[in-house]
Amino acid sequence: MKNNLIYKNSPLPFQGQKRGFLKLFSSSLKNFPSDAIYVDLFGGSGLLSRSVKDIYPNATVIYNDFDGFSNRLSHIKNTNELLLIIRQILVNTPRNFKIPSFDKDKVIKAIKAHNKQYGYVDIITISASILFSGKYITSINELEKQTLYNRVRKSDIPLAIGFLEGLKVVTKDYKELFNCFKNNPNVVFLVDPPYLSTDTKSYSSDSYWKLKDYLNVLDVLNNTNFFYFTSNKSSIIELCEWMGEKYNVNPFDGATKESVINSVNFQYKYEDIMLFKKHLKAS
Ligand SMILES: C[S@@+](CC[C@H](N)C(=O)[O-])C[C@H]1O[C@@H](n2cnc3c(N)ncnc32)[C@H](O)[C@@H]1O
Repeated sequence: MKNNLIYKNSPLPFQGQKRGFLKLFSSSLKNFPSDAIYVDLFGGSGLLSRSVKDIYPNATVIYNDFDGFSNRLSHIKNTNELLLIIRQILVNTPRNFKIPSFDKDKVIKAIKAHNKQYGYVDIITISASILFSGKYITSINELEKQTLYNRVRKSDIPLAIGFLEGLKVVTKDYKELFNCFKNNPNVVFLVDPPYLSTDTKSYSSDSYWKLKDYLNVLDVLNNTNFFYFTSNKSSIIELCEWMGEKYNVNPFDGATKESVINSVNFQYKYEDIMLFKKHLKAS
């Protein structure tokens, strides 16, 4: 199978995007039909949806844009304008250095002015450009309380033309979307829920993902074709194995497991995991 991936990562910062899995995900897709319906229940940045469509142009791909990521994409030109203003304010602050308070005031003022003029600021992209690596903020008010760093990119963000092309974009709670497709055997579900015990502040849903929410997602794995993403931090696989041994119920029974090791620092590593299972006959 040719790897036709155009996007190797999300066009805009997105917490939990599956860029680290794209290679394994793409090669594992060969186990599933090229003309199936792929339903990305937790679409996030849409990177998995985009990848399926690029690899299987004849597939129907439903991207559940729960966080309004498409809206962020449609404002990239605007976001670039604001980043240019911030870059000019920070001309004397070296990259990754703390932004002095007089410049911080100017940056916040510029963000507020932009918001007033356009009625919109992609605060996740902007905050990712002026906060410590990996941090995001979801409101301008929150930004004012933070220590800012110059992490503004040197050039414009590419406009991501065609990123959504051919995708069917919907916005629904995953359970509702699942119910629309659950009885169709030609469907493959992409299941990448917010990780348990991770900071999900940048997602649009206010409610924190508790163990119960996380376990409820397992319902969508019952007699369906799926790709499921997790990490060993959640211990969900261990729990399901225990359920299998004790009660003979393990949704991952017969699934193929792939993983990548991520190093947070010299001492701490964790495993990102992808499991997939097929119930339908290949076309
Ligand atoms: C781990 S991220 C998915 C990342 C995505 N696969 C990517 O590559 O960008 C989980 C996503 O689920 C979304 N989400 C949270 N609650 C949801 C719900 N009830 N229904 C659908 N999506 C939800 C989050 O907002 C977040 O976008």
